[in-house]
Formats: sequence, structure tokens, C-alpha cells
Amino acid sequence: MTPDELENLITARRSNLLIDASREVDPELVDRIVNTAQWAPNHKRTWPLRVAVISGDSRRALGDTIADAMAVHGDDEMKVTKTRGKFMRAPIIIVVAAAEGTTTNETEENKYAVAAGVQNMLLMTESFGLAALWGSPAKGANNAITALCSMNRTDHVIGIIYVGWPTQSVAAPQRPDIEVSRLS
Ligand SMILES: Cc1cc2nc3c(=O)[nH]c(=O)nc-3n(C[C@H](O)[C@H](O)[C@H](O)COP(=O)(O)O)c2cc1C
Repeated sequence: MTPDELENLITARRSNLLIDASREVDPELVDRIVNTAQWAPNHKRTWPLRVAVISGDSRRALGDTIADAMAVHGDDEMKVTKTRGKFMRAPIIIVVAAAEGTTTNETEENKYAVAAGVQNMLLMTESFGLAALWGSPAKGANNAITALCSMNRTDHVIGIIYVGWPTQSVAAPQRPDIEVSRLS
């Protein structure tokens, strides 16, 4: 791959939830996407990445799990109801969590490492021509999600990623100029 090709891949990646929910994604592609996350840097080799790949009826179980936690949390009833079916919008849902560190700083850096891993996954997804969107977990639902996904209670869910074949492309949002300080 040339630098231009890498740059094009990075800039072409979009958050896109315009996905054909009924079109399967080859599990081999999903495995390759997930594996790229483990190649992100991680400080002191703590290997904090935790992943659950969810498909089929388990997508509804994930929605119900999060919706129930939202209801306990006192979330708006409309939002709770909407959440029950929201993961049916893509054939593959990837829950990504960061393991707790031995110190507060390590826990924080573990999240950075896993976030870098998510970007690897999103780029790999883009390279296959698949659509993806990094969604935030609902407030107060962490423990319910980690329990459903057989993760540790102390794992911190940093994203719920929708993956599938796009029905449409989306426009790139404008990027502001970067504030760069140059010292020489
Ligand atoms: C930590 C994180 C959480 C996000 N959560 C959501 C979300 O809950 N819902 C959503 O529609 N997009 C979510 N996004 C995607 C952003 O909205 C998206 O990246 C942004 O609009 C820029 O668009 P682009 O990814 O196409 O460049 C999230 C992105 C990040 C990094």
C-alpha cells in the first residue's frame, strides 16, 4: 500500500448506519476486522482489548439488556423502547471494552489503546467496502452489557459498533483545521 492509498482509506472512512440489515457478512471478514484491533499500541503490553461479536437474535438480547438498564436508570420511556430494537439495524454488532488497569492511569491508557484498536477495525471495515458506525453505550448500562458479553464486571465498554453492507454512502462532515503548534 502506498502512502496515498493509506491516506485515501483513512479519509474515505465514514460513520454510516445506512446498512442492509438482512445481508449477512462473511464471518471470516468479521474475524479479520476484529483481529486488527489487537495490533493497536498498548502501554506496558497490558493487552486491554475485550470484544464480543453479536449477531442473530442476540442483537435483540443486547437491546433488551441495555433498555432494561436504561429503565432502571430512569431514562425516557420512548428512548428505552427504541433501544430494544436498535441493534437489529446491522447484521453484526461488535461490543468493544477496555480492561481495568492496576492503577487509574493504566485504566485510562487502556481505554486509549482500545480506542486505537477500534479505529483499526473501522479502517479494515472500510477496506472491505463495509459500513460501520461507532455507537456509545447508554449511561448506566456498562455492567449489564459486560455481563451479557461474558466480560469482567470491571471492563469498560467504550463502543458498540454496527457493521454491515451499506445501502447508501454518506457525505463527509466538514473537518475544522487542526490547531497545530510548531516549535523549532
Ligand atoms: C467515542 C465515540 C462515540 C460515538 N458515539 C456515537 C453515537 O452514539 N451515535 C452516533 O451516531 N455516532 C457516534 N459516534 C460517531 C461520530 O458521530 C462520528 O465519528 C462523527 O460524526 C464524525 O463522522 P465520521 O466518523 O464519518 O468522520 C461516536 C464516535 C466516537 C469516537
